Parts: sequence; C-alpha cells; structure tokens
Amino acid sequence: MSNRVALVTGASRGIGRAIAIALMENDYHVAVGYQNNKELACEIITQPHTGIPIQLDVSSQQSVETAIHATENELGPIDTLVNNAGISQVKPFLEISDAEWEHMLSVNLLGAVRCARHVIPGMVDRGFGRIVNISSVGGQWGGLYQVHYAAAKAGLINFTKSLAKIYSRSGVCCNCVAPGLIQTDMIADELDEKKSDKLFEDIPVGRVGTPDEVASTVVYLCSKQSSYISGQTLNVNGGTYLLG
Ligand SMILES: NC(=O)c1ccc[n+]([C@@H]2O[C@H](COP(=O)([O-])OP(=O)(O)OC[C@H]3O[C@@H](n4cnc5c(N)ncnc54)[C@H](OP(=O)(O)O)[C@@H]3O)[C@@H](O)[C@H]2O)c1
Repeated sequence: MSNRVALVTGASRGIGRAIAIALMENDYHVAVGYQNNKELACEIITQPHTGIPIQLDVSSQQSVETAIHATENELGPIDTLVNNAGISQVKPFLEISDAEWEHMLSVNLLGAVRCARHVIPGMVDRGFGRIVNISSVGGQWGGLYQVHYAAAKAGLINFTKSLAKIYSRSGVCCNCVAPGLIQTDMIADELDEKKSDKLFEDIPVGRVGTPDEVASTVVYLCSKQSSYISGQTLNVNGGTYLLG
C-alpha cells in the first residue's frame, strides 16, 4: 500500500474528479476537495481507506487551513497537491467589474497560493513533494471573452515556475498542466452553442478532450518517475498550436 497522500481541490466534478479517481487507482490516499457538492465527492470514494471528502473553498484562507489540517489528521502528511479548483465567467472585458476580477483572481490564482503555502513547509522538511497546478490554454493564448480568467491562468504558469525555482532543490517539483477544451460542466454552454464541427477546426485531434486525458498527465507529474521535471507546463490540448 502506498503512503502517498494527495489533496485535489475541486474534485467533486469534471477534471478534478477524474484526477482524484486516477490517483486513488494508483494507490494514493486522496482528500477529495469539494465546495458545494459533497455527495458527488463521496460517490468516488469506494473504499473507506482510499480517501475522504473534504470541504474546501479556495477563496478563503480559513477554509484552506481547516481542510489541510483535517486531511493531515485523517490521512497523514500531504505530499501531493493538485490545485485544480476553478471558475469561469464569460463576459466582455469592459463589463467585468473590480469585484469580478478580484473573485476570479482569488479562486483561480490565489487559491493555489493559499494551498501551496500550507503544504510546502512539510514537503520541504520531508524532502519530497509534488505540486501540479491546472492552468489553461487561455493562460497561454489570452482570452477574448474571459480576460480575467486568462490572466489568472497565466499567473498560475508563472507561479509554478517560481515555486520550481525555490523548492525543486528540496525535492518538491512543481508543474502546470494546461488543458485545451475538455468536456465538463464548465464548457457545457460553449459546446451547446456551437454544435457544428467549427469549434473543433483548430484542434488537430478533431474533438474536445476528456477529463481522464488530463488526469493521466497529472498522475505522471505526481509520480516519483517525474523527478527531473519541474517548472514546466504540459499542454493537454489535442495538438493545438500555440502562437507566441
Ligand atoms: N473544462 C475545460 O475545458 C478546461 C480547460 C482548461 C482548464 N480548465 C481548468 O480545469 C479546472 C477544472 O475545471 P472543470 O472543467 O473540471 O470545472 P467544473 O466541472 O466546473 O468543476 C469545478 C470544480 O471546482 C470546484 N470549485 C469551484 N469553486 C471553488 C472554490 N471557490 N473552492 C473550491 N472548489 C471550487 C467545484 O466544486 P463543487 O462542485 O463542489 O462546488 C468543482 O468541483 C479549472 O481550474 C479550470 O479552469 C478547464
């Protein structure tokens, strides 16, 4: 039985759910983070020893602290953190208010900061850790309709590089995964609106991705086999070519 303990934020649905399941299948003990959907988080814990549901709002420092203490009390020290929780908001740039910018940055960028700073000291003391941040192709390309989302995701890529520079020497590797369009609730409206194949024209693989296809990349980056990879952003985007 593996001693690895992982916290996955936003694991009740979508990509985070697939990551939590994949880590459990690889013998990790997983704290399955949820904000509102406890039942969905509980659903994927089929054996009591494989994981626990953990309520966690990454926009709240207090909530992050409580969740991390509860996880470590129940499962042991966290050696793997997957910062996946995220929100999106489609809105023209000129209409996005300061409050909406602040909320977006608080969840999609500062959420990862809040979780990382609580687990890193323990990882450094034990000489081992893995942190994977879920960014987005929008963070690399910019966003037409979600400028605040794209900016937060770009920040996450840079934050990843800084953590890698500071902590890789202590055995804590930090990487990013940048998915393209992945079939989840987050993009359900987009898929509904553009039923034609046009949406897929720019994706060489010719379709949207699945949460499992992101999860398998994350599992690799969490593994001991990825020990010489740090500060990188792996694109899981069906071969989409990135300009600039
Ligand atoms: N889907 C895509 O095409 C795509 C592409 C690129 C990047 N991404 C990124 O991948 C990650 C997962 O996206 P997804 O498509 O799986 O989204 P999703 O299906 O909408 O699921 C979002 C998850 O995040 C949780 N969450 C939302 N706000 C939270 C908060 N303040 N604190 C903690 N948890 C919170 C939700 O919890 P509850 O359900 O419990 O409320 C849910 O588990 C996000 O960071 C997203 O930006 C997605």
